[in-house]
This record gives sequence, C-alpha cells and structure tokens, in this order.
Amino acid sequence: MALGVVLMALGSIITTQVEARAFFVFGDSLVDNGNNNYLATTARADSPPYGIDYPTHRPTGRFSNGYNIPDLISQQLGADPTLPYLSPELTGENLLVGANFASAGVGILNDTGIQFVNIIRMFRQFDYFQEYQNRLTAQIGAEQTAELVNEALYLICCGGNDFVNNYYLVPYSARSRQYRLPDYVKYIISEYKKLLMRLYDLGARRVLVTGTGPMGCVPAELAMRSTNGQCDPQLMQAAALYNPQLQGMLRDLNNDYGSDIFIAANTQRMHSDFISDPQQYGFETSKVACCGQGPYNGLGLCTAASNLCPDRDLYAFWDAFHPSEKANRLIVQQITTGANEYIYPMNLSTILALDSRT
Ligand SMILES: *[C@@H]1O[C@H](CO)[C@@H](O)[C@H](O)[C@H]1NC(C)=O
Ligand SMILES: *[C@@H]1O[C@H](CO)[C@@H](O)[C@H](O)[C@H]1NC(C)=O
Repeated sequence: MALGVVLMALGSIITTQVEARAFFVFGDSLVDNGNNNYLATTARADSPPYGIDYPTHRPTGRFSNGYNIPDLISQQLGADPTLPYLSPELTGENLLVGANFASAGVGILNDTGIQFVNIIRMFRQFDYFQEYQNRLTAQIGAEQTAELVNEALYLICCGGNDFVNNYYLVPYSARSRQYRLPDYVKYIISEYKKLLMRLYDLGARRVLVTGTGPMGCVPAELAMRSTNGQCDPQLMQAAALYNPQLQGMLRDLNNDYGSDIFIAANTQRMHSDFISDPQQYGFETSKVACCGQGPYNGLGLCTAASNLCPDRDLYAFWDAFHPSEKANRLIVQQITTGANEYIYPMNLSTILALDSRT
C-alpha cells in the first residue's frame, strides 16, 4: 500500500518532468544567459559585481544583478533556467528543458554590434537551433522532437542594438547616411519579419516578441546624449516609430498563419511606467544605474571598480543599459498577467491555460 503510494508519487514526478514545457530563447543581452562567456568578445558579463544577487552570488554571463527576463519566465513555467546553448552541460536530459541561444550585442542586422566581433548573429542562432533539433532527434527520435519543438514556448528579444549599436553608435554612421530614420525602421522591420518566418519554419508556434524599451532614457544615453536629464529625443523617436510597426508586423504574420503565433510584449510601455513614476514601483530612481561611473553611473562598463548601490531593488537600472532583477520582475509580471495594452493579443497565463494538455 505504502509502496504503491510512493510509486504513484514517483510516476507523477517523472511525468511532470517529461511534460514540462520546453523554452527557447533568442536575441541580445537582455536575454543572454551566458553564451558570450564562451566567445572571444568584449560583450560579456562574466566578472563581479554581475550576478551579485544571483543564488550563487557569482557572475554567470547574465547582464543583471540577479535573474533576467528568461529566468523569470522559466519560473512561470515551473522549470529551471535554460542553459546557454554553448554550455558543455547542455546534454542528455538537460536538452529537454530547452536552450538559450541569445548573444549580447546582436541585432536584427548582421552589421549591428560589429565592434563586439565574435557574437552569435541572429541567423546563426537559428542555425544552432536547427543543430539542437538534430541532436535531440538522435536522442528521442524525430516525432518526439517535433512535438517538443511545436509545443514549446519561445522568447525573442532584439532590435534595440540596431539603434544604439548601429544607427546611433557614432555620428554619421554608415546606416544613418544610407537611410533616414523612418526608412531604416521600415528596413529593419522587414528583415525582422524574415527572421520570425524562419523561426516559424523551424517549428515555433508560441513566440513572445519584445519591443525595445525607451532607449533614450537608459543611464548610458542620459550620460552621453542628454544635457538636462531628459530622455534623448532621437532615440525616443526611434522607439516611437519602431514599436508600433513591430506590433503591426506581428499582427500581419498572425493573419497570414491564421493563428496567434506571435505575442507582442510592449516593453516600451512596461518600462515607461516605472520611468515616469519610479516611486510607485518602489524605485528610488530610474535615471541612475546601480553599477557604473560618471553622470547617472552611465559611462563605461560595470566592473569591480565601479560605484555600486547597496540595495539593488531600489534601482530600475542595474548597469548603464540593463534593468535590475527587480525591474525584470515587474516586466515579467506584466507579460504573465498584463492587460492587452501590455501584451497582445494575450498574456502568458492565458497562453499556458490555452495550451495546457490535460
Ligand atoms: C546575414 O548573414 C546571413 C549569412 O551570410 C544571410 O543569410 C542573411 O541574409 C544576412 N542578413 C541580413 C539582414 O543581411
Ligand atoms: C490575462 O489575459 C486574460 C485574457 O485576455 C484576461 O482575462 C486577464 O484579465 C489578463 N490578466 C490580467 C491580470 O489582466
């Protein structure tokens, strides 16, 4: 009798493990879980004080004091954080949880982030995803692999670097001489559409797509481009053009596919809430980075020699570009339960309820 109960309990544990939904992540530093640690690049977060509030209190490659957005989404799925694709630990059972292909510094365009040299461009992240599927097929067979891939949740986050690390990286950049801003936005949206269609062809059927935050308001831009602490108007205009067109493109794709494949996370709106009223969200400031130096702690890298705030939860920005774990929690909370102006056409809790297999 007692043994029977134990066996039943064991059975249900094993079933839940096998059935936990896989999670796949693509994009830039906002979602990189440490791939760049394995690459010869300057875009890395592998030294203290990065990771100071992570469970290990050690740097992991995440651009955060603790958890980042994918980690917190994994928690919503009831799963462990996904491993970076380049991690040697990503073998065997670990493959079933999914994988993180993101690489800090990348953008929609291949020429974005060229100063970081060795990063995994978007097309290459998808090549790796194909490679992942081949590896998984060798392990569990083609049919089960296809099922795992089709039923997984996806997150893709890119586009911000196409502005800050390309168009606006230097005055008179090649892309800004080639395109007026409105035409550049149209161009990168059309290239992004091709990337998302490739992701669909690779089997993705539920994809969270984040827009850019208010890029002109990050501490780095306040330090470099603002004289009075106001958000940079050019980058604000870029975000104002880009985000609605991204949402329109996702709507068009869903219409073409006849299904709600792509879910638009309005990260601009989520960030703007706590930038316009930091106190309401428990922040002391949304202008000054916790870790850095210079005006707004917005210049240079976050290193062991930087200013470091004692209480990271009081800062919306951890470093000059990236949200603190606390801000990431607020963002994931809106992704999970937010109304349509935050996440369209449905939030993550609705997705999980719709897709649950009972
Ligand atoms: C990026 O490079 C890959 C491989 O060379 C190519 O297939 C892809 O079209 C390029 N993307 C853009 C936006 O130029
Ligand atoms: C999540 O989405 C569902 C369906 O759109 C909605 O009913 C629910 O209110 C949303 N959650 C919140 C907290 O708004």
